Amino acid sequence: MSALSQRPDDAAVGLTVPHESAALHVTGAALYTDDLVGRFRDVLHAHPVQAPHAHARISRLDPTPALHVPGVVRILTAADVPGLNDSGVLGDQPLFPAEVMHHGQAVCWVLGETLEAARRGAEAIAASGVDYDPLPSVITVREAMAAGSFQGADRHVQRGDVETALHDAAQVFTGETEFAGQEHFYLETHASLAVVDESGQVFVQSSTQHPSETQGIVAHVLGVPDHAVTVQCLRMGGGFGGKEMQPHGFAAVAALGATLTGRPVRVRLTRAQDVTMTGKRHGFHAAWRVGFDAEGHFTALEATLTSDGGWSLDLSEPVLVRALCHVDNAYFIPNVSVRGRIALTHKTSQTAFRGFGGPQGMLVIEDIIGRCAPQLGLEPHELRRRNFYTAGQTTPYGQEVRHPDRLVRAWDTIAESAELDTRRAEIATFNASHATAKRALAVTPVKFGISFNFTPLNQAGALVHVYKDGSVLINHGGTEMGQGLHTKMIQVAATALGVPLHRVRLAPTRTDKVPNTSATAASSGADLNGGAVKDACEQIRARLDAVDDGAGLAWEDLVAKAYLARVQLWAAGFYRTEGLGWDAATMHGHPFKYFAYGVAAAEVEVDGFTGAYRTRRVDIVHDVGDSLSPVVDVGQIEGAFVQGAGWLTLEDLRWDEGDGPDRGRVTTQAASTYKLPSLSEMPEVFNVTLLPDAHEDGAVYGSKAVGEPPLMLAFSVREALRQAAAAFGPPGVSIDLASPATPEAVYWAIELARSAVPATPVPYAAGPAPRDGSPAAGDVEPVSAPPWQVQT
Ligand code: MTE
Ligand code: HPA
Ligand code: MOS
Repeated sequence: MSALSQRPDDAAVGLTVPHESAALHVTGAALYTDDLVGRFRDVLHAHPVQAPHAHARISRLDPTPALHVPGVVRILTAADVPGLNDSGVLGDQPLFPAEVMHHGQAVCWVLGETLEAARRGAEAIAASGVDYDPLPSVITVREAMAAGSFQGADRHVQRGDVETALHDAAQVFTGETEFAGQEHFYLETHASLAVVDESGQVFVQSSTQHPSETQGIVAHVLGVPDHAVTVQCLRMGGGFGGKEMQPHGFAAVAALGATLTGRPVRVRLTRAQDVTMTGKRHGFHAAWRVGFDAEGHFTALEATLTSDGGWSLDLSEPVLVRALCHVDNAYFIPNVSVRGRIALTHKTSQTAFRGFGGPQGMLVIEDIIGRCAPQLGLEPHELRRRNFYTAGQTTPYGQEVRHPDRLVRAWDTIAESAELDTRRAEIATFNASHATAKRALAVTPVKFGISFNFTPLNQAGALVHVYKDGSVLINHGGTEMGQGLHTKMIQVAATALGVPLHRVRLAPTRTDKVPNTSATAASSGADLNGGAVKDACEQIRARLDAVDDGAGLAWEDLVAKAYLARVQLWAAGFYRTEGLGWDAATMHGHPFKYFAYGVAAAEVEVDGFTGAYRTRRVDIVHDVGDSLSPVVDVGQIEGAFVQGAGWLTLEDLRWDEGDGPDRGRVTTQAASTYKLPSLSEMPEVFNVTLLPDAHEDGAVYGSKAVGEPPLMLAFSVREALRQAAAAFGPPGVSIDLASPATPEAVYWAIELARSAVPATPVPYAAGPAPRDGSPAAGDVEPVSAPPWQVQT
């Protein structure tokens, strides 16, 4: 057991405690960025002028019409930027653009005494202050592929000899998989509030997962050093990756406005603005060839993944890298050649979203398994289990898969606790006696790499004060977005100092307390900041132990004695993850400290008339190491699973893809048209268990990251829907299911199954002609008739 992972007796980590702000959340007393506005006088409100074109050159921009609107104070345009006119770090995201790159992009901002005045001012500019020369646009990823519209670096993960392996495979299949993105729909939309103090210091309150980067971008827009800008994040009403990169521009608008007017400036997006202006999960297209041996083991995978990056790079490159590092999911594939590229489309700039490419990579392999299993004559769960990594095997990018036995343990635990054999028999009986409703049960595994692929990001800091009265105040570099990071950090500090939880208070995240932080992302918040908090506390503890000298003084007495002895009672802590290495060019190395594992079994019932479905039961066993905070972790698993199920089954993000004047507009701008999971879509029975005996040597107090991995357990629901649709037709038929698997998509999958004619030896038949949104039948095709040789 490592010094990092070892727990003392009576540790405060591992205790079942509520979220530190639970009472504030449920009573409405918790403060979010925009709640602070009322505390300031003379606040100006900012409103964007949004472009009505997917792609256009701005030929004229005249703010005068807004200046005639009562209450309008100032218009912010590119001419006002004293520093760099860019809201990103790669130089491709102008804050005030000369060329409109997506429908709804802000071309300038109006500051008003009230939000209504600013809105009217923006309306006046939109009506008569701005002219556009429309340009041709690329909206869908397929259009981008046809037009050769790409951005950023292509990537390639490669191992072995795919062509030979496919040639020698017992069976080879080809197919395409295309799936949609996802709107974050955090309850709190983007918000920033900026003030300039008496010494010229810019102070920005921002709903940001990445305060240090927000600080850096505000500073470069203003043309001042980082030390002139402080960013604070009290907490977020959800981030989910959507506030890793996207808050920067809004913070910069607020800060620029405050600098130019000397008054506090508030930016808070409406829901429609948030949906139309900010990036989402990347949708992907994948084309693949896959080979299996006679026993149903993968022999080779060849694929090209194209992500829909939207108008600028944003985080698309690291998202793509993570996707390529997760196409294997839990399965050993000896020969691999997977290429990735990023489409440039005239849409919002797609960004981080829980899983960060991992879900997209895994969807490809889970789709392949779901579609190929019937043609291999294997139950999908059997095909999955047969291909699990075993000890000593490595991923396609060269990292050894440690603890694959945990996956087996989770799998076997579920089989028993969820009585899978019995229920499969019950489902068969149900399906045999019901012509218009079918049930199915699917089990899917998750293996998710923990650490930022880009090694330098795996560092964190903390600042811990012990006051003379023995009370403790901690700061760390991570942000709280509901995930319970602050709760865990209080538990870590109490453990490391050996004090009760109530002695520790945690102060909001600020860049002037802990500098140069990484985003709270990649699920690494607790690993990284926990390491830093523990380090700071242990420095203090060591000094106190020297003062105590075996006397066994009570905490308060010891602290008082140390103070009188002029012992430093505060410390800065630092942590960096050891043992990582990654070559971005060759896509090879050991990018992850460890893998998080989980298994889910989902049972659904599908209606044959409508495609409507219910999730009858879900069982999850998930590996969080030795949990730092069990209720928080179970909440993360439940929430991630439901969010994943939303992506895969309900949330149908639509853009106007037609040639009319609204081309490129997001048509799902509100909860009325964008169906989110709610209580009624929760699994009727939902059992979440933490994998026991799962100590992780490489992380703080033996724990594992939890924020993102369980999202991908939701593949069990999608695969269960596929199997239930298949149950309407003859056995042995490959069923293509669109993603999201909305009731409509499930209906078309049922139609596909019903019209399929079982044939031998290739039991595959053309389905009905594809309709809008429907999958094309015959997509998974064996490349040739037996003996299943690849044609070259
Ligand atoms: N949980 C809640 N309630 N709200 C969120 O916004 N974000 C998720 C996850 N869980 C999120 C959440 C994402 S995308 C990540 S990367 C992690 O939390 C980040 O926090 P952590 O590193 O502390 O787990
Ligand atoms: N996850 C989340 N955010 C990131 C990552 C990652 O792997 N890499 C860079 N930013
Ligand atoms: Mo999470 S997508 O890494 O913010």
